[in-house]
Amino acid sequence: MPIVRDKKIEVLFSAEDIARRNGELAEEIVLSDLKNPIVISILKGSFVFAADLIRALHHAGLSPEVEFISITSYGGGTQAGEPKVLRDVESDVQGRDVVIIDDILESGGTLKFTRDLMLARGAKRVSLIALLDKSERRKHEIDADFVGFECPDKFVVGYGMDVGHAFRELPFVGVVTGEA
Ligand code: IMP
Ligand code: MG
Repeated sequence: MPIVRDKKIEVLFSAEDIARRNGELAEEIVLSDLKNPIVISILKGSFVFAADLIRALHHAGLSPEVEFISITSYGGGTQAGEPKVLRDVESDVQGRDVVIIDDILESGGTLKFTRDLMLARGAKRVSLIALLDKSERRKHEIDADFVGFECPDKFVVGYGMDVGHAFRELPFVGVVTGEA
């Protein structure tokens, strides 16, 4: 079991599992026949996944524009509140095929809010991608069009995802299980 910053981390999805799945996802996404898409990565958690996925899309023959948006649901505390835009996209999405990428789909609040925002701005079509789906935790009626892996109901870190700003750099997705 890997030890990082004096914590034991159980690997749930290895770097190899993720790389293989990204290739498959890219093939599926290309088959959905997107026209001149803008890919929007939700910061910060999805930046590693998005960076790998756009290169997998390149290998699958798709050349997206890339944008970032920063959404928070935590108004300082730990209780999830109404999502808010902290940093917006720069491009006009009017009439465009938009692909939103997030790390985890949990209650659905973040992806629902971001999708509705892009539709309100006139996006022609919005597709949703989540690396991990914690479907047991869903509160909003929303599903992703493309999901990397179904995720157990555990707090995960790595591959862009953090706990208290730590562990984003891990090349795999894992769970902190205790002190080393
Ligand atoms: P939702 O809005 O409830 O669907 O939550 C999705 C957001 O919560 C994701 O964008 C993540 O940033 C965050 N999140 C949910 N579960 C985890 C986790 O296990 N580890 C790290 N971040 C998480
Ligand atoms: Mg997030």
